[in-house]
This record gives sequence, C-alpha cells and structure tokens, in this order.
Amino acid sequence: MSSDLASPGATTERLLVRQARWVARDVVELRLTRAAGGALPAWEPGAHIKLTLPSGLRRAYSLCGDVADTEAWTVAVHRAPEGRGGSREIHETALVGRELEVRGPVNRFPLVPAEGYLLLAGGIGVTPLLPMARELTARGLPWRLVLGARDRTRLVYAEELVALGGGRVLLVPQDEAGLPHLAAELAAAPPTHAVYACGPQPMLDAVTALCRTADPARALHLERFTATDDAHTDRLRSSGGEFEVVLTRSGLRLTVPADRSVLDVVREKLPDVPYSCEEGYCGSCETPVTAGLPDHRDTVIDPSERPGATTMMICVSRCGSPVLELDL
Ligand code: FES
Repeated sequence: MSSDLASPGATTERLLVRQARWVARDVVELRLTRAAGGALPAWEPGAHIKLTLPSGLRRAYSLCGDVADTEAWTVAVHRAPEGRGGSREIHETALVGRELEVRGPVNRFPLVPAEGYLLLAGGIGVTPLLPMARELTARGLPWRLVLGARDRTRLVYAEELVALGGGRVLLVPQDEAGLPHLAAELAAAPPTHAVYACGPQPMLDAVTALCRTADPARALHLERFTATDDAHTDRLRSSGGEFEVVLTRSGLRLTVPADRSVLDVVREKLPDVPYSCEEGYCGSCETPVTAGLPDHRDTVIDPSERPGATTMMICVSRCGSPVLELDL
C-alpha cells in the first residue's frame, strides 16, 4: 500500500475482487478485499474509490457497502453500452479472483450536520446515498429517500432500502409512476433538512433550479453520477481542437491534442500533479490559470462564477484561446 499524492489521506493498493452479484438490471456489485484479508482504511458515506481495470482504464465508483464492514469495499457498476468502455469491461470480464489497483477512499460528498435529510437518487446515483441512509438510521436522524428509475428492474438496491427505511423510502418506476415529484418532495422537507441528490444531470439541474427558486438558503449537496457516464466524459474532454499549454513554474510548453486532456499531457511531465476523478467533479486537479481563456467543463466551479474564475479543472476543461498558461 502506498500513500496517494493525488488525494491526501487516500491510499493505493491491489485488492482482490472477492465476489460479483447482480443488484439490478445491468448493475453488477463488486466486493473488494485484501487477498490475505484484514481491515481496509475506514471511509464515510459519500466516499468513492478509483479502480484501474485490466485494460488500464481508470474509473471512480461510490462506495455503497456498509461502513461497518471493515474488510471489504463494495461498488456497484451500471453497464453503459454507449460509454468509452469502463463499465462494459467490468461487466464483460471475469473479474472475480483477480486483483485490481484501487485508489481511495476520497470523499467529496460528505454528510454535513443537519436536523434531517432528503436524499434524491436517480438510477445508479443511489450508490452514495445508500450508506448515508444507513448512517442516518444508525444516528437516529430523520431522513427520506426517493429513488427514480426507468422501470422496477432498474431500481438499484430497492430491497435493501425498503428493508432499511420502510415508509421513508419512495420508489418511483418511471414506466408506472412517471418522474419523481421533486418539487413536492422539496416543499415537504423542512428548511432545516439538507438535500443530497445524485443522478443524471437533468435531474440535478431540476433539483438545483427548484431549490434556487423556492429556498435558496437550503443546504443542497449534489453529485452528478459520472462514474459510468463515459460518453459524457468523452464529450467533456474532446472537441475544441488542439492548443498549447505553458507551465510557467516548470518552464515547459506542451501541445494538448483535441482527443487528450490537459491533465493527461501534463502528467507525462509532472507525474505528481494532483488528480482524482478525472471527470470534472472532485476538484482535486484545480489549477491556477495565469493567462489564456479557460473553457470550463467541470461541475466544481458554478457556471455563474466561470467568467471570473482564476483556476480550472485540467482533467476536463479546455482552452478558448490558442495558448493557456498554468501555474505549474
Ligand atoms: S480530477 Fe477531479 S475535477 Fe479534475
């Protein structure tokens, strides 16, 4: 096990895929342990780990097991047939019995103190919210969870959630009940209750807009479910053409091709540059910009703050000018 320079507190080690099981249609759960057994580093609900797959692809997944299960880390992976291949590789490779490099845990979506919690999940986005629901139950705090999916077969961890929360869990299969009534859920939650939402971008956009309109002071915590949305990440990274990057402190000038990220190119020269999710949502790779026009494509910097932003997430953001100067 080695310390992880990219994410303080995280570690990197090889873990054995001990078990795989289906937990919903097109969703497989992997249980990872040390080959010789023994306790893994502790984690808190909201944390994710990053797997390096046999092909070398790296993908981040929320931990969705029980924090009390100290010997295993559990993730659930939704098959994304249109993606760049990470989830497909997991679904189509016999991984049980193999070791994978695992980095983490890192938590960019932690539970903050509140009088109660409304947890809103879309599809596989329930994975970070399930351990939150367990934790809140253990702490005796009020919570409600709403999980939407296209149909019943895609309601990930539905049985576990209902067993855990009973009437506090609302399952919304879209083909029977339509979309979750987010406005009604938010209106029914007391203003002192924090809202956590994880799911596809349209759902998060809707939650954000509803909160801004109805109750801008409410604590809102969002995590776009990116781990299997490879096609989306591809779109984030690509397009906009080639540009030059000048690393002012290192005295380097590098070319970023249209199909590679700034981070990929920089890492070849500066292997210790911080990063984690590589999908624009964790903030680990935030880098000061000293000149040039960043084309922000992350979800860390609020769109309203982009025009004045002096930093950028180099894993997905690009450049709107021919040259970008970074303080690296
Ligand atoms: S590595 Fe996570 S935002 Fe760039």
